[in-house]
Amino acid sequence: MGATFSERADRIRSVGILTSGGDCPGLNAVIRAVTKTLEPEGVEIFGFMEGFNGLVENRYMKLSDSQTSGLLTVGGTILRTSRNKPHKMPAPDGGTRDMSGAALETYRRLQLDCLICLGGGGTQKNAYRLVKEGGINIITVPKTIDNDVYGTDICFGFDTGMTIAAEAMDRLHTTASSHHRVMVVDIMGHNSGWLALGAGVAAGADVILIPEIPYALDVVAESLLGRMRRGKMFSIVAVAEGALSVEEARNRPDDRDENGKKKKKKDMDVVEHTKEPVSAILAEHLEDVTGLETRVTSLGYLQRGGVPTPTDRLLCSGFGTHAAKFVLERRFGCMVGRQGEAFVPVPLEEVVGQKRLVPLDHPWIRTARDVGTCLGDQLPHGH
Ligand code: F6P
Repeated sequence: MGATFSERADRIRSVGILTSGGDCPGLNAVIRAVTKTLEPEGVEIFGFMEGFNGLVENRYMKLSDSQTSGLLTVGGTILRTSRNKPHKMPAPDGGTRDMSGAALETYRRLQLDCLICLGGGGTQKNAYRLVKEGGINIITVPKTIDNDVYGTDICFGFDTGMTIAAEAMDRLHTTASSHHRVMVVDIMGHNSGWLALGAGVAAGADVILIPEIPYALDVVAESLLGRMRRGKMFSIVAVAEGALSVEEARNRPDDRDENGKKKKKKDMDVVEHTKEPVSAILAEHLEDVTGLETRVTSLGYLQRGGVPTPTDRLLCSGFGTHAAKFVLERRFGCMVGRQGEAFVPVPLEEVVGQKRLVPLDHPWIRTARDVGTCLGDQLPHGH
């Protein structure tokens, strides 16, 4: 029989873990799964506080079974989080400074064999930067209710965010129909439409607007008028925070250079965007056109809080145990991706700088159109 991981001479002895970017349900469940898989292998686990801040400032808590028991269902992150990047940490003069050296120094001082980073697109980028600059071993896990990390079919937290948004729309349905109102619901998702589309289809929203399909205001208004003509005197309009009109899409600054590489913000012709959310502008217009009272509900951070769904708990347990296994197998420099039913190592260089948007031929888009939902680009069938 071969030696077990803990018997091997080159065995993994210490591992760091951090949670970075916006919080999301399931972070604790992944921390728990990583700890419960690594601790029996004799691995010491350092949980860095507040994302990359803890790595830069050498602030951590030791994690063991006793700290992580009971965490499966707890929202938020016991390690806390921040959006700070090692190469752009807040400086005392109000600017930023590159603290990557301090982050690498902590990794070396604690003699870590690997750092596990749980986060969204930004975290994948920051982690990869440390790999390239410092040659350290990193494994990442894709976290975000936005579901937009490239290289994985799904990110943890998404199912919970989608469930919360769908349940909110279920409640809005009854109040909308009681008052004959148009309810515009503002849903998170950054520049992708996964949350609004998934929750909107699940809740039977009448209109769903996502960034991937620019909308025409008159099409949206006409679809609501059509419902009124058919005696349906209320409507639910699910709007992704990144949704944009056809005109806005046309005037969107080109963010790629001639070689297809993403331009830096300073090199782009930035169009000034109004601070007002899309949902507020839309609601005003729809009220004018339909004559129906219109209300806006912004779900905001409710979508990121509280207990993860059972689907997310299963996913997080799979992500965490596989992150731990990949550490033990020394498969570094990768993100744990979920592809089909499998958890696979996806090289970080394939993940960074890309976003996973909703493909226009996605089954959810087809389903929405088939059931007569207006997606803002054309009138639904049966109109
Ligand atoms: O990435 C998750 C997310 O909740 C997005 O949907 C939203 O655009 C953003 O974070 C909000 O960021 P913050 O937590 O910094 O307000």
